[in-house]
Amino acid sequence: MNQSIGFIGGGNVAQAIIGGLRKTDKDRQIRVMNRTNHERIQRLVDNYNVMAAQIQELVEDSGILIIAVKPKDVQDVVKNLKNYDLTDKLIISVAAGISTKLFSKHLPGVAVVRAMPNTSTAVLLSMTGLSRGENVLEEQAELAEQIFSSIGLTLWIPEEKMNALTAISGSGPAYFYLLTENLIQAGIQLGLSEAEAAMLASVTLVGAGKMLTESGKSPGQLREEVTSPNGTTHAAMTVFKGERFPEIVVKAIQACAQRAEDMEGEYSK
Ligand SMILES: NC(=O)c1ccc[n+]([C@@H]2O[C@H](COP(=O)([O-])OP(=O)(O)OC[C@H]3O[C@@H](n4cnc5c(N)ncnc54)[C@H](OP(=O)(O)O)[C@@H]3O)[C@@H](O)[C@H]2O)c1
Repeated sequence: MNQSIGFIGGGNVAQAIIGGLRKTDKDRQIRVMNRTNHERIQRLVDNYNVMAAQIQELVEDSGILIIAVKPKDVQDVVKNLKNYDLTDKLIISVAAGISTKLFSKHLPGVAVVRAMPNTSTAVLLSMTGLSRGENVLEEQAELAEQIFSSIGLTLWIPEEKMNALTAISGSGPAYFYLLTENLIQAGIQLGLSEAEAAMLASVTLVGAGKMLTESGKSPGQLREEVTSPNGTTHAAMTVFKGERFPEIVVKAIQACAQRAEDMEGEYSK
């Protein structure tokens, strides 16, 4: 199977995936196109050894087409793709809230994998959810997994769980950034400089993340280990719980999943 990749859409997510891929895969042919922003494509060409292409060349010469446009633009792309023979091609869509059914409906027989990476792609630590649409061969599923494994970890899930996954790992980096921003503000209020507070908060986040993924302990266990009765952490935990932090988190995540579901309704017709 032709393993060269064509990106339709050359924005933030395409750049993050290309940047991550290039760290581990220097030679694979990658073609990129967008709609109007030529400067942006030129920057990708200059920085990542990719080729700018028009739709015809991109589709005909790539075995894997990664659709990295905003959800509202997917219909346009699908319309364009109807003009080409997509036999043996694998389409990977990263558009939030666009189901594989939309592709199957307008491009009958096409092999589509839906992927939901996150922005930690740029440091090769994306948590990417993958769902297999109809018609995807084992070899094609392995290829999709291989692409996203080169930029982090992958998890195959049934497509009906994709909105839940989006709410946890797709949008997740923003939640941790928000918490970190608030920690920095609190540190400044306690007399630290911004740089001091930023270093303390950020490295603590990385360390806690590594403990979560490498210690084999649950988050609750790790939290209890830091929290001695009546100690300093206990004082903070009492405020978090008293101010209903757990309920706020659940509410925010439900809102995110709901928005993903609404988008699916808006764009997947
Ligand atoms: N941000 C995240 O954390 C995240 C995570 C997972 C998935 N996603 C999904 O990734 C997708 C892309 O997001 P993004 O942040 O990369 O968006 P973006 O920066 O706005 O980039 C979108 C790109 O699509 C191009 N485009 C639009 N219509 C096109 C068309 N008809 N043909 C070819 N190219 C077209 C745009 O070109 P011009 O600039 O020339 O208009 C631009 O290069 C979205 O669907 C989003 O839901 C995002």
